[in-house]
Amino acid sequence: MKRYQALADTMAAEIRAGRLPVGTRLPSVRHLTTQYGVGQSTVFRAYYLLEEWGLIRARERSGYYVAPGAALAPKENATLKEPAPIDVSSLVFSVLDAVKRPDVAPLGSAFPSPTLFPLARLAKSLAHAARMLDPWSTVVDMPPGNEALRRQIALRYIGMGIAQPVEELIVTNGAMEALTLCLMAVTKPGDVVAIESPCFYAALQAVEHLGLRAVEIPVDSREGLDLDALAEALGTHPVRACWFMTNFQNPTGVTLSVEKKRALVDLLTKHDVPLIEDDVYGELHFAQDRPPPAKAFDTKGLVMHCASLSKTLAPGYRLGWVAAGRYADAIRRLKLMTSISTSIPIQAGIADYLQHGGFDKHLRKLRGALLTQRDAMESAIARWLPNVAFVRPDGGYFLWLQLPEHVDAMQLHRRALEHGINVTPGPIFSARHAYGNYVRINFGHPWSAQIDNAMKTLGELLRAAS
Ligand SMILES: Cc1ncc(COP(=O)(O)O)c(C=O)c1O
Repeated sequence: MKRYQALADTMAAEIRAGRLPVGTRLPSVRHLTTQYGVGQSTVFRAYYLLEEWGLIRARERSGYYVAPGAALAPKENATLKEPAPIDVSSLVFSVLDAVKRPDVAPLGSAFPSPTLFPLARLAKSLAHAARMLDPWSTVVDMPPGNEALRRQIALRYIGMGIAQPVEELIVTNGAMEALTLCLMAVTKPGDVVAIESPCFYAALQAVEHLGLRAVEIPVDSREGLDLDALAEALGTHPVRACWFMTNFQNPTGVTLSVEKKRALVDLLTKHDVPLIEDDVYGELHFAQDRPPPAKAFDTKGLVMHCASLSKTLAPGYRLGWVAAGRYADAIRRLKLMTSISTSIPIQAGIADYLQHGGFDKHLRKLRGALLTQRDAMESAIARWLPNVAFVRPDGGYFLWLQLPEHVDAMQLHRRALEHGINVTPGPIFSARHAYGNYVRINFGHPWSAQIDNAMKTLGELLRAAS
């Protein structure tokens, strides 16, 4: 290892462990040159590397500082290691009820602003499809769903390098139904499933609702899912299925590297355990290319890849799907048994839009808007909440903020609501109500005075709680 890399590693470890808190000024280049007996260029290269990793930032004529994005690893070790039933629903519902209030600043929302979607163009497709609707489509488009729509969806998989058979695609009411049907298809009450920690709260609710038991696998905000912990869980418990997010995980925003996705699929293949892959944010990438899903590395039909248009095109249309691999037939039957079909005119309208509406152009615009909003939110955090830590996400629209250790996120959530601000408190993302000093905030809304004021007030509330 080169000397500048070793120096960067040493300093990164100090920052990640919290020994150099956010905002700390780093030693001058001259100081480090003397201290470590290295040349100035070695120190500069180490600092450039730390900057590239998002751990430090240069301030003009002032030096280098630990960046707000330098999140610390959660100290809590409150993951469920032994399978246990889950009881989170009442907490989740009480938090989510506040999302509906239109007067509240939407930092706790799970959706981007509806103003970012081409609703007028969509309406045109919907109207056209409704006018042209074949009366027999009410029968023909029943599960697995409208053929033209499934062909359009299959084309998007080709864009990801996946040859997706149309027959294995099942249209659902949003990704949520897809995910739940997958879980139903491969488990029975009392079975053990592996979920993430922190984890999308609806996964916890689904596990609770279906009477399953969960083991939690830690997710690090930088590295993602802990594959060693997963391997241990698979070796210890009769895990029947895994439910994981591989891209822009909710709430941490982390994306698994290609190597980890491949290793994840290899590990599950070895144990013959199916993966329910939740990829609702995969299209919202800020880098040039879409990160592939784990499905791209699946050769055995073991991965059920679930996605939707709720976050990318058509909120409220409830259009989702699953690329279900070897479970396609079981899921098609479950879909028929539980909701019969996804709305036939909506399927036809979306098929028309995907063919003629300019989805990719819209996506490019949406990603650009979200990236601008992320940067605006980061600046607001640097200004109003300098003592929180987070890892900058490369896609999606969530920031997972680590507050100072003694701050109670539930209390902050309640105080913020009194001031007309909604933030999502960390404990709803965990079976054990851990992450007591974390909140998730949404940057999916165009920057406005309301949001800036909300961030300022949040900073004041945080200071009062500190
Ligand atoms: C991680 C994750 N998965 C699934 C869903 C549900 O998606 P849909 O609205 O398409 O049902 C959401 C929505 O909040 C989500 O955040």
